[in-house]
Amino acid sequence: MSDVVSPWVQRYAPLIPGGEVLDLACGSGRHARHLASLGHAVVAVDRDPEALAAAAGPEITTTAIDLEEAGAVWPFGPERFAGIVVTNYLHRPLTADMLASLAPNGVLIYETFADGNAQFGKPSNPAFLLQAGELLDWARNHGLRVVAFEDGVIDTPKAAMVQRLCAVKPDFPRVAALLPPF
Ligand SMILES: C[S@@+](CC[C@H](N)C(=O)[O-])C[C@H]1O[C@@H](n2cnc3c(N)ncnc32)[C@H](O)[C@@H]1O
Repeated sequence: MSDVVSPWVQRYAPLIPGGEVLDLACGSGRHARHLASLGHAVVAVDRDPEALAAAAGPEITTTAIDLEEAGAVWPFGPERFAGIVVTNYLHRPLTADMLASLAPNGVLIYETFADGNAQFGKPSNPAFLLQAGELLDWARNHGLRVVAFEDGVIDTPKAAMVQRLCAVKPDFPRVAALLPPF
């Protein structure tokens, strides 16, 4: 995986308020490093120790967890993270607990492959592909305010069908959803 930061993450990461950020299934840490460069303490989770060794760095705490092993439970408490970033990973059983770990005003930035990606290659297993509008359903079902959503074909870094979301957990009555400049 390239070390280039996803343009989606680049665009919306500045909306994350001060505080700890989770990079879930972080791989070798391209987004963990970017988030740390923005001043966040980052918790970087993956099951691959080699990837975690590459991700480790100042302000980045790495944690080796197999999120899908039998009996796996979500390892974080509720309302902990100012931001949660997930790219190129999907494991639906964790969704509700993951979203509960967003603090009030916390920002979810999610980007992964979507239904239709099989025409371009892998992943092609429906378990790893978002259904049309699925990230919007997550937001609706978990009380998040949608800042931005896209669902379609990209051609870089390679052709793929992707879906991506930026959403905020509202902290009523002070709803913060500052949009990034164009
Ligand atoms: C396609 S890579 C994406 C890495 C990173 N998010 C990025 O976009 O650069 C998927 C990552 O998910 C991790 N992963 C896959 N299954 C996992 C599991 N059961 N528990 C934790 N991490 C897992 C892999 O080790 C790999 O680093």
